[in-house]
Amino acid sequence: MKISINRQSNVSIRQQIYLEIAQRIRSNLIEPDFKLPSVRELAKELDISLVTAHEVYKMLDHSNLTESIRGKGTFVRCTKNNTPDNSHPSTTFDWQLSVPDYLPRASFWSQNTVRLSPNILDLASACVHHSLIPMHLIQTSIRQTLDNSPNTLGQYSNFQGDPDFILALIDYLKLLSINFQPHQLLVTNGTQQGIDLFARTFLGPGDTIGVETPCFSGAIDAFRLAHVNLHPIPVDSNGIRVDILEDLAPYTRFKAIYTVPTGQNPTGAVMSLSRRQDLLNFARQHNVLILEDEPHRELEMNRRKSSILPPPIKMLDTDGRVIYLKGFSKFLFPGMRLGLLAADGSLYNRLLAAKSIADLGSPLWLQKSLISFFRNPQLIPSIRKMNTVLDTRRKKVLQTLDRLLDPRIIRPQQSAGLHLWLSLPIGTHTDFLIPEAHRRGVHFLPGSIFYPGEPETNHLRICWTNLTDEDLPKALEILCGLLNDAVNN
Ligand SMILES: Cc1ncc(COP(=O)(O)O)c(C=O)c1O
Repeated sequence: MKISINRQSNVSIRQQIYLEIAQRIRSNLIEPDFKLPSVRELAKELDISLVTAHEVYKMLDHSNLTESIRGKGTFVRCTKNNTPDNSHPSTTFDWQLSVPDYLPRASFWSQNTVRLSPNILDLASACVHHSLIPMHLIQTSIRQTLDNSPNTLGQYSNFQGDPDFILALIDYLKLLSINFQPHQLLVTNGTQQGIDLFARTFLGPGDTIGVETPCFSGAIDAFRLAHVNLHPIPVDSNGIRVDILEDLAPYTRFKAIYTVPTGQNPTGAVMSLSRRQDLLNFARQHNVLILEDEPHRELEMNRRKSSILPPPIKMLDTDGRVIYLKGFSKFLFPGMRLGLLAADGSLYNRLLAAKSIADLGSPLWLQKSLISFFRNPQLIPSIRKMNTVLDTRRKKVLQTLDRLLDPRIIRPQQSAGLHLWLSLPIGTHTDFLIPEAHRRGVHFLPGSIFYPGEPETNHLRICWTNLTDEDLPKALEILCGLLNDAVNN
């Protein structure tokens, strides 16, 4: 097991090792019944004392993640969240389990709905049902490209992205009052790749990134893979708590801060303009980078006038310390795997170099085929039309929850994005509700995956946009029944 320990950190070594092993177990990266190294082996491998190794196993046992059997060793328990995946026969080869890896956690993989049976109603995936996407505009755009430029199938793209596609995106973003120059932009394979490029380029062992908490779990996974320290920073209804960053600054050298200011994932908070300015001022004062992730802006177009929705932090950035990620998966199509990164100066150059190593550039044909789509004057009106449908749906969902949910289950009063963050009374464990949820026919995301460190276990995230109008009320009814039962028992 490859575990990176930061001996300068103010988190104890015992706690660091415990968290890494716990996250691997929770992510299914270590399977039930797997025998962990003996106390002696762990101590030797990680260069720690026998007492520390022993304490780590005691903490894992205490959390019910492992069971230590005298004379036999410490074994991973079946935690209900890590039921064995028998779809890959190779997992039966014991020798493969002994090959060490560098994957600390993979929450998306462990929650992968692809492995769910098709009759389970999906309240987990944060995307819009395909029937709501402006499909006709995409189809026309793709057909035209196939007819007019079939040669693009046989070529690589620039590492930066296709220049005409970039210009189309610049003009599209202007409609949202977001202004960029071509030399600032880099086309990525989804925002997730932008997060990964940032992590590979700027984060490594010994660095500390402040992450708003709870936090988009895909970002936590990518940062963990860089073996960096993740410092959780709480969010409130106004976004990441800059006052807490200020309090921590004398003791913690932050290299970067990750935030989703518009429709925070999972709480749905929208950061106010003054909080955005405070965060930027903090970053300037302490020489910190900001990784701003913005997949949800378009969804707010009807709900708030653009003058009221604060601009991206990147638009306030005068010294190039914000790296901005723009996603298209939440209001268009996650399956296309395209996104955009905006940065300046030598930060940009280094991210571009990382992109060249990661994949030699995003698919050219895909970019070409979306140029006329992003230039289509009907695009913004059709997003607005989709938002009207979504807004009506959101209201219905909130009314249903208010009607059916036990009042002890709390939801935010205001929530942007496609998701809702529900909080059960402390002491409830939403991970343990998953098997029963599947038995009753729904799936949701347990809140624990949104925490970079020791998780709070009483939350869950649901997404209300990925089901049909017929299925959504059924799913909500099942979910409310399940959660009410959990609260009452
Ligand atoms: C905040 C946030 N960032 C990034 C992503 C990944 O988006 P993409 O599909 O563009 O890679 C998601 C998807 O869930 C998200 O919620």
